[in-house]
Amino acid sequence: MTTLSTLNNFKKNGTKFTCLTCYDAMFARMMDNAEIDSILIGDSLGMVVQGHSSTVPVTVADMAYHTANVARSNQHALIIADLPFMSYSTLEDAINNSRTLMQAGAHVVKLEGGAALCNIVSTLAKAGTPSCVHLGLTPQSVNVFGGYKVQGRAEDAAALLLQDAKAVAEAGAALLVLECVPAALAKAVTEAVAIPVIGIGAGADTDGQVLVMHDMLGLRHGRVPRFVHDFLTDDNNRERSIEGAFRLYQEQVRAGEFPRAEHQFD
Ligand code: KIV
Ligand code: NA
Repeated sequence: MTTLSTLNNFKKNGTKFTCLTCYDAMFARMMDNAEIDSILIGDSLGMVVQGHSSTVPVTVADMAYHTANVARSNQHALIIADLPFMSYSTLEDAINNSRTLMQAGAHVVKLEGGAALCNIVSTLAKAGTPSCVHLGLTPQSVNVFGGYKVQGRAEDAAALLLQDAKAVAEAGAALLVLECVPAALAKAVTEAVAIPVIGIGAGADTDGQVLVMHDMLGLRHGRVPRFVHDFLTDDNNRERSIEGAFRLYQEQVRAGEFPRAEHQFD
């Protein structure tokens, strides 16, 4: 069984680890067999499962339902569940909604934001709930950003992100997710904090990697972000099994073969 101490040891030893999003039992079992290190029940389910155009419509009840389906079907992975849009705007909401997700089977709850989350992060930690803070491109704020764009490119934005990362780590966050930030910034953040950092579109130097499962199986609609790689179909257009694709992802991340330069932002 993978725990936070497993991931902390991975970081200390320089062992790269995997995370995949997952929303249901069948895929959770396949990820169990493929020994994927951690699973994220992402609010991306709003898009890939529910057909919405953003993660904003997803509710705590939706997250709890999918978390329970995944958690009962996977014994190997550390289970991380997203607190959805506006479900942690107050300390009280953060506590109540984290309880719901933890009791549905999560081991860690994930929140989007920066240093403003410090009080919530430390309160949750004291109450026995580890948190993962998602920085960089935070999709719940798509209406603030005005689209999905690479974050932290300007010097002041990069400095702010680094400050945010240090602040939430200091407050007791257990993990960080960095989404769509320049590889050099992701490397600097990963070196600056003692906690494991998981990247998506953040280059090869974070401690772990995460992808949306549908993306890495080549199931696509619309524009495919550059950090996505299809692990199901090989260069000769031959398909392997879905479990084989999960295994290949696990192997390639461990071996430092994924992500490659073409998947990162500068
Ligand atoms: O919801 C999600 O899938 C995520 C990952 C992209 C990190 O938050
Ligand atoms: Na998410």
